[in-house]
Amino acid sequence: MSRRLSFYIHIPYCIKRCGYCDFNTYTPAELQGPDLESVSKNYISAVLKEIELAQKTVGAAEVPSIFFGGGTPSLMPAAELARVIQEIRDRFELSPDIEITIEVNPDSVSLDFLEKMRQAGANRISMGMQSAVPHVLKVLDRTHNPENVSTAVEKARKAGFEHVSVDLIYGAPGESVSDWQQSVTSALQLPIDHISAYALIIEKGTKLAAQISRGEVQMPPDEETAEKYLIADSAFEAAGFNWYELSNWSKPGGQCRHNIAYWNGSMWWGVGPGAHSYFDNRRWWNVKHPATYQQKINAGESPVQSEEILSEENLADEYLMLQIRRREGIPHRNLKDSQVSRAAEYVDSGHLDQAEWTAQKLVLTQQGRLIADRIVRDLVL
Ligand SMILES: C[S@@+](CC[C@H](N)C(=O)[O-])C[C@H]1O[C@@H](n2cnc3c(N)ncnc32)[C@H](O)[C@@H]1O
Ligand code: SF4
Repeated sequence: MSRRLSFYIHIPYCIKRCGYCDFNTYTPAELQGPDLESVSKNYISAVLKEIELAQKTVGAAEVPSIFFGGGTPSLMPAAELARVIQEIRDRFELSPDIEITIEVNPDSVSLDFLEKMRQAGANRISMGMQSAVPHVLKVLDRTHNPENVSTAVEKARKAGFEHVSVDLIYGAPGESVSDWQQSVTSALQLPIDHISAYALIIEKGTKLAAQISRGEVQMPPDEETAEKYLIADSAFEAAGFNWYELSNWSKPGGQCRHNIAYWNGSMWWGVGPGAHSYFDNRRWWNVKHPATYQQKINAGESPVQSEEILSEENLADEYLMLQIRRREGIPHRNLKDSQVSRAAEYVDSGHLDQAEWTAQKLVLTQQGRLIADRIVRDLVL
């Protein structure tokens, strides 16, 4: 039986950088070169070479999932992304029920693109909705107007995508509780089977971080952001979207198997600049800039910038950090005795589920999910 290896394909381009985002992505102005259309062919050719390198390193493997993330994969011509799927198909064995996801931006997705991607084998769309409220989108520096999201989701369904997800962000400056309620309600009106909702993180060096430090906009209080999580979780659950990871909810059968592979500690290869990979207890990441990445790949050199070997202890801490966020939780037998006795306090305080605890499992309650990071810090000490 061959090994299993998921692929993450990074597409490091966006038309415009959103004010809060520090992902490894570049705009045409930052590239100081030709438009995105003309860079895509060269970029994808480098990606194909890295897939060849993956085959040489890993050997035979079955691929259960491919995830095109970014950046904005929907800026690439569909034929270029299809070349990537074909290359993986030629070099590895695709699982019969493979999940192939494409992240799209509601502004840059056409029916033609979606139909071509569906034909190429993609079967899941993840769309950056973020909010349904114009003034919140403006603070987030998003270019789309809220109506574009439902039009884009309709197109995805029309193109035959069975699995469609939207990403939401809560806790932006100026977002009231009722603004957030409106975003939650709007998301639930869409024909989708998955929702990711993340609390806004203010990343150093972003435009939004500068606006906050100059006092132009203020972050809402933490208690309000926690309240927004509870509002979302209760509304999603009532609408049949069950939480399966702290920030992810799905209808039955709609869970993202690619992300589950990350959380499970399965092996994956991240292709592209800045992408991380994990294989046989070794984690490595590629050089960050797309130009350097392409130079190295085209010169036949390794694109890896650095690597680390994970010790048994690193792996155990990571398992705890990721698995505690999941509805499945952590069996007591996978923890040290000292961790189980420390965790018992969180059962008494209502942060861990009592019935699951009795069944020898550690599963966060809704209140527990609000302090997941604190519980992890306490248990990995
Ligand atoms: C790479 S983006 C996805 C697709 C596409 N680029 C877009 O934004 O529409 C992945 C998701 O990460 C989330 N994200 C990015 N930066 C974030 C931040 N600073 N805080 C919270 N969530 C963030 C957003 O919800 C975003 O949709
Ligand atoms: S479109 Fe997505 S990846 Fe690009 S800048 Fe905005 S949030 Fe970041």
